[in-house]
Amino acid sequence: MRIILLGSPGSGKGTQASMIISKYAIPHISTGDMFRKNIKSGNELGIEAKKYIDMGLLVPDDLTLGMIGDRFLESDCQNGFLLDGFPRTLIQAEALGEELKRAGKNLTAVVNLEVNDDVIASRMTGRRVCSKCGANYNLVFNKPQEEDICDKCHGQLITRDDDKLATVINRLQVYKNETQPLIDYYKGKGILVTVNGEQDAEIVFNNICSTLEKVR
Ligand code: AP5
Ligand code: MG
Repeated sequence: MRIILLGSPGSGKGTQASMIISKYAIPHISTGDMFRKNIKSGNELGIEAKKYIDMGLLVPDDLTLGMIGDRFLESDCQNGFLLDGFPRTLIQAEALGEELKRAGKNLTAVVNLEVNDDVIASRMTGRRVCSKCGANYNLVFNKPQEEDICDKCHGQLITRDDDKLATVINRLQVYKNETQPLIDYYKGKGILVTVNGEQDAEIVFNNICSTLEKVR
């Protein structure tokens, strides 16, 4: 199962990814998480990436492609992989396609999570993430049992720096300009499936799974 999760910021990619990877036993490859790891470690890539992320812009393609390399061909990807937040530009999509072609592999499906902008804004401002394990919460839709504490590892819950309303508005615009064209790109390849991401997370998950079962 080689899957791409496509969708605007806050559409629920990370939330769905954690459920999909445990069902299909495939690794979760998130370029957003990879950048945040580099930022946390304070290395050169992290410092450079943070400038763009904090403004709600995409990190340039050369840095993104350099970071991801051929991660999706590593040994833990034998059963497939789930890409979350990559590709995000046509250049990245072409680069991914070339690497997979060279390795003789195809994508199974590109799952497009559809969510309206007004729903996105309320989700993003309520989001909290665990500073230790990265688990996702929401003050309205998915509250932790104890305020500001992760249910899974008891780490401190924090607000992502790029979840300020002004940055969220930029991220949505950047998504429309640079990432939305990938919907037609993958539609043209006949592997795009669209799922309504506005429903309860469990319902979204069940719809994704039944769609994937039809195309695998
Ligand atoms: P990244 O971390 O990928 O952020 P994003 O795509 O903007 O998406 P988010 O992680 O914000 O949202 P999500 O879709 O995962 O939703 P979530 O499940 O958390 O990227 C961050 C930045 O890194 C980018 O802006 C860019 O600068 C850079 N970057 C990353 N990849 C790049 C690339 N390839 N090229 C260039 N730059 C790159 O859900 C959101 C909230 O909603 C949560 O609180 C959750 O609990 C809640 N929620 C989820 N589902 C539901 C539901 N069904 N109902 C109610 N609430 C829900
Ligand atoms: Mg995410």
